[in-house]
Amino acid sequence: MWLVLAVNLCLSLSGYYLVLNVVPKLRDMFMRAGLTGKDLGKKEKTEIPEAAGVISSCIFLIVLFLFIPFPFGKHLIHKDAETFPHEEFVQFVAALLSICCMVLLGFADDVLNLKWRHKLFLPTIASLPLLMVYYVNYNSTTVIIPKPFRFILGSDIDLAGLYYVYMGMLAVFCTNAINIYAGINGLEVGQSLVISASIIIFNLIELSRDCWSSHLFSLYFMIPFFFTSLGLHYYNRYPARAFVGDTFCYFSGMTVAVVAILGHFSKTALLFFLPQIANFIFSLPQLFHLLPCPRHRLPRLNVKTGLLDPSIFQFKESSLSLPGRLVLKIYQMVGVIRVENDANGEEGMLESTNCTLINLALKLGGPTHEKNLANRLLLFQVFCSTIAFIIRYPLASLFYDC
Ligand code: UD1
Ligand code: MG
Repeated sequence: MWLVLAVNLCLSLSGYYLVLNVVPKLRDMFMRAGLTGKDLGKKEKTEIPEAAGVISSCIFLIVLFLFIPFPFGKHLIHKDAETFPHEEFVQFVAALLSICCMVLLGFADDVLNLKWRHKLFLPTIASLPLLMVYYVNYNSTTVIIPKPFRFILGSDIDLAGLYYVYMGMLAVFCTNAINIYAGINGLEVGQSLVISASIIIFNLIELSRDCWSSHLFSLYFMIPFFFTSLGLHYYNRYPARAFVGDTFCYFSGMTVAVVAILGHFSKTALLFFLPQIANFIFSLPQLFHLLPCPRHRLPRLNVKTGLLDPSIFQFKESSLSLPGRLVLKIYQMVGVIRVENDANGEEGMLESTNCTLINLALKLGGPTHEKNLANRLLLFQVFCSTIAFIIRYPLASLFYDC
């Protein structure tokens, strides 16, 4: 086991150096192909290559393609077809197929700028090979009920088809939650690094327990993911020399969803998404158009100070639906948004800060430099992972028989 992990680590480190080398070399090719984006957080609004996530994700796939023979090495050398672990092998290949599919769809999104309803639909399609393998290999759809609810629901419940809906939704959530918690240099890759590092630590802890093989399987994917993303972070961190694009967000979310589903630790994986869950719930009124949702909700640069301020959306109160007005009032009351009269003084026009965690951090902490804001949000992600470990280990005995 440790030898195979060491091979995985060596290949992942090679992947890291490859990403570091390849990204600047392909810069001109991306620019010529029109795969560029304006850095909205800078005074000059410089154009830099977009969708560089396609490079790190392809290198991740290459690393894993080269790695495939190693976990199955002893069976391949002895050519013992009888004992060959076909189920594990199919699981490995299906996981790669789902990730590969998501990279392709993410890249299509970057090139074609798909609509939001497509963005929700794509991960569901990409997760189908995975769900098929889950059905054939496990088809375990029973969930253990937490202790406080057992007097109503019993000790476990079979969710049957609903469990597959839940797994499909997990892929949709992980991909889109990362994509909408974005807009400042280094945040998309940075959050993925913290999430994958947390999962790696969790898997390493669990290697000495009963379900070690599922966690070993997860490590085979998470270690290369961490190192290839680390290479990409070098170019995406402030001041960004490349944008990672939706390709990376989808690839990242799908890779986590794949290991969480096949490793049977989807609830723990979700614990590592606490900031993304908070950002998603906070965003819901804008995502469902109860409140206006501008194309970009990323913070705006104050050119005089060089610092970022929360971005805003403008609206007339009379144009909001009743639920819209209610949400606005509640958000205002708990202090997560700031509503003011329109700065241009237009009659009846109001403006509110956009409903994202990034804007909330600026509202609470005041105007901040882009680099410091990214560091602050990544520290918060680390803090939330620590909370997640506390919930998963010391507190888990309150809810489950450990
Ligand atoms: C999501 C968010 C959107 C946010 C955008 C930023 C929702 C519903 N959508 O949209 O609010 O503005 O991500 O990624 O929440 N960019 C920067 N600096 C960065 C990263 C991105 O200026 O550090 C800008 C660039 O112009 C880049 C563009 O954002 O070209 C990428 O946006 P895109 O990924 O296409 O936006 P969405 O994922 O649709
Ligand atoms: Mg995006």
